[in-house]
Amino acid sequence: MSNIDDELTHPGPAETTAGADGHVPASSVRLPFGRNPRHFGIDPSDPWPADVPMDQDDTHWRFENDPKGAKRAERRIAACWTVTLLASIAVCVVYVTGANNQLAGLCYGLAFGGLGVGMILWARDLLPGHEVTASRGHHEVSSEGYRVAVAESFSRGTDAIARRPFVFKILAPAAGLLGLGTLFGPVASLGPRPHTDLYKTKWGKGTRAVDQDGNPIKPTDLPVNGILTVFPEGYMDDALSPTLLINVGDSDFKVQPQRAGWNLQGPYGNIVAFSKICTHAACPASLYNVQRHQLICPCHQSTFDVLDDCRPVFGPAPRSLAQLQISTNSDGYIISVSDYTRAGGGPVGPGFWNRG
Ligand code: FES
Repeated sequence: MSNIDDELTHPGPAETTAGADGHVPASSVRLPFGRNPRHFGIDPSDPWPADVPMDQDDTHWRFENDPKGAKRAERRIAACWTVTLLASIAVCVVYVTGANNQLAGLCYGLAFGGLGVGMILWARDLLPGHEVTASRGHHEVSSEGYRVAVAESFSRGTDAIARRPFVFKILAPAAGLLGLGTLFGPVASLGPRPHTDLYKTKWGKGTRAVDQDGNPIKPTDLPVNGILTVFPEGYMDDALSPTLLINVGDSDFKVQPQRAGWNLQGPYGNIVAFSKICTHAACPASLYNVQRHQLICPCHQSTFDVLDDCRPVFGPAPRSLAQLQISTNSDGYIISVSDYTRAGGGPVGPGFWNRG
């Protein structure tokens, strides 16, 4: 600590005086601008490290003696960060008004470009101009002297920041808005809130089941062991509604107590209706193993036992496929009695946040 204040006050270029052993003591190094070797993390009693240039000065900056030049530099930096500020506002506006990806990308480019160029100009023109390096030396733990020197150096760095409050008045809102836009963008990209949409399909009371050509279906259209994908009439494109009609014939279909009468039984067989949407990741579970009465999802091989509530017996699906209550109308066509309900294991498809 006693050498901390050993300022070398000789102006001019660095001068050295080698000792008898050829080493150059740091204390004999004379640096420009009267800097102390400690300012570079070098103990004055240590030899000057060979890998540290002697002409370093971590206080000098480009426009130190040119206030007008510094002012111009400040304005250039402020202009760059103003571009960042405006582009960040534009990012938020673009997302609010519909998230045009190309426009958002352009705004992000301008925002980050302005920020980067401003940083480069700031570092070049208003911060100390030398890159300061220091040898790691042979010390495992830095001495207090080194630590004080680093703290001093850091403090000089913050001085350079404090003397330019104007650019920071621009930088702070620019960076804040850019951060806000960057946060807001992905959130806005999630799209509209689904509200209760995930709980509903287009099935309802008396909705006719139609095939992919829009033809209504009668129970007699489905032979024993037959399987058919049906849709609510008029809603062939609804992603949550595809439903499988399966005629399990006289196989031992286990009727859940709360679902008595949900299937169609007659001379044609025993027709049950289950959602086609896999409860794992919503692929269509459409491969039917007739011998085992199992539905298989081709995506990750979840396997559902049709005779037992379409319970998953293999694979990652966490729960049964939802069952739809069906009946026939006065014309003999298959209709749904209601939408999928909790009693039938609905809503259809994979679980989501507020559902167990
Ligand atoms: S989506 Fe069906 S098993 Fe993964």
